[in-house]
Amino acid sequence: MNIGTALNNNAKKAMLLGSGELGKEIAISLQRYGVEVIAVDRYANAPAQHVAHRSYVVDMTDAQAIKTLVAEEKPDLIIPEIEAIATDALAAIEQQQVATVVPNARAVQLTMNREGIRALAAEEVGVPTSKYAFATSFSKLKTAVDGGIGYPCFIKPTMSSSGKGQSMVKSADQLEQAWQTAREGGRSDTGKVIVESKIDFDFEITLLTVRAKNAAGEVETSFCEPIGHVQEEGDYRESWQPQPMTEAAIGNAQMIAKRVTNAIGGLGLFGVELFIRGDQVWFSEVSPRPHDTGMVTMISQPQSEFELHVRAILGLPVDTGISRPGASAVILGGIDSDSVAYSGLEKALAEQGTEIRLFAKPQAFVKRRMGVALASAESTEDARKKAVLAASEIKVIHSG
Ligand SMILES: Nc1ncnc2c1ncn2[C@@H]1O[C@H](COP(=O)(O)OP(=O)(O)OP(=O)(O)O)[C@@H](O)[C@H]1O
Ligand SMILES: [Mg+2]
Repeated sequence: MNIGTALNNNAKKAMLLGSGELGKEIAISLQRYGVEVIAVDRYANAPAQHVAHRSYVVDMTDAQAIKTLVAEEKPDLIIPEIEAIATDALAAIEQQQVATVVPNARAVQLTMNREGIRALAAEEVGVPTSKYAFATSFSKLKTAVDGGIGYPCFIKPTMSSSGKGQSMVKSADQLEQAWQTAREGGRSDTGKVIVESKIDFDFEITLLTVRAKNAAGEVETSFCEPIGHVQEEGDYRESWQPQPMTEAAIGNAQMIAKRVTNAIGGLGLFGVELFIRGDQVWFSEVSPRPHDTGMVTMISQPQSEFELHVRAILGLPVDTGISRPGASAVILGGIDSDSVAYSGLEKALAEQGTEIRLFAKPQAFVKRRMGVALASAESTEDARKKAVLAASEIKVIHSG
């Protein structure tokens, strides 16, 4: 493995497609190895663009726009940070060996559409999932629910994230509304929804799973300690690590994560979302990139999920160990404003073992994630309390 010098003609170049808060941390990790970072987003001054060598504002669902930019910049690595990307362009770029798509173009294609990843996990690999069906009309949806999926169930657009267009249906009279919500809430109208039986879980986890080369150059799979989290209105609010689990549940979770990520292939870190009840584990979905709930690793692990992703894609060895129990709590905008300031940092940081990350998003919305509070402690419970308290100290204010 050979790394050049950023801004020199031998530079190793990485292009981030999507420059949010997760991309920002990936960029910082890349910078530490002297990689030249190009940050792309649909709007100017997105978080990762603050720490990149160059930035572009591009509609990433426009295949031609991506191809043109890649031809101009000639990155070695293309690192997708979001789901809404013209994946045909990535497939063509990979096929013509113009750049390496992280972890590979097929992974990005499969995971952006619930149909792709569900078929891979449940049918090809055969890991346990909720009962599910796809429907292209209300009557087909009704037939699927009546035919075995039953109530309660979840209806989701096949292409969406952050809970958009998703609803839980408890009885037949709510089904039509959920169908409409899914049709309207998708990223692009695929004309299809997925219906899933509700898994009655004790808790849900993200199992950060890394495919990286070991010292001998062979691809090896390793796992971080499980991350527990709370979801509200489709987005995570709190996460913590480690989530206590039985030996059997951990074993099942790692086996599922390994089988699914093996089938996806490539190098990098994956966020495998799993539901747990007792020793039983169900696969839900997977991100072929760092996961928002994994932000906790910025405080709980010597190598955060971002560092792990970067090491893996550069072909470097990784260490997924934990140093201390940790927790994260998100800081939401609370207001709509295009000129925000933050107060309360001195209070939030007064507690030992507490950190704050502000993403510097140019615009705040009531439900937009603007920052995150991180805390470590002797126990996960204490870390959670500290993180939630620190997040509550931060006030997002309009400041013209
Ligand atoms: N079949 C299910 N059974 C039980 N709970 C579910 C099921 N499907 C979804 N959920 C709940 O809803 C949350 C969001 O679901 P999912 O991850 O599929 O949506 P998403 O839009 O991809 O969200 P994100 O982008 O935040 O991961 C899950 O984390 C879980 O709490
Ligand atoms: Mg999810």
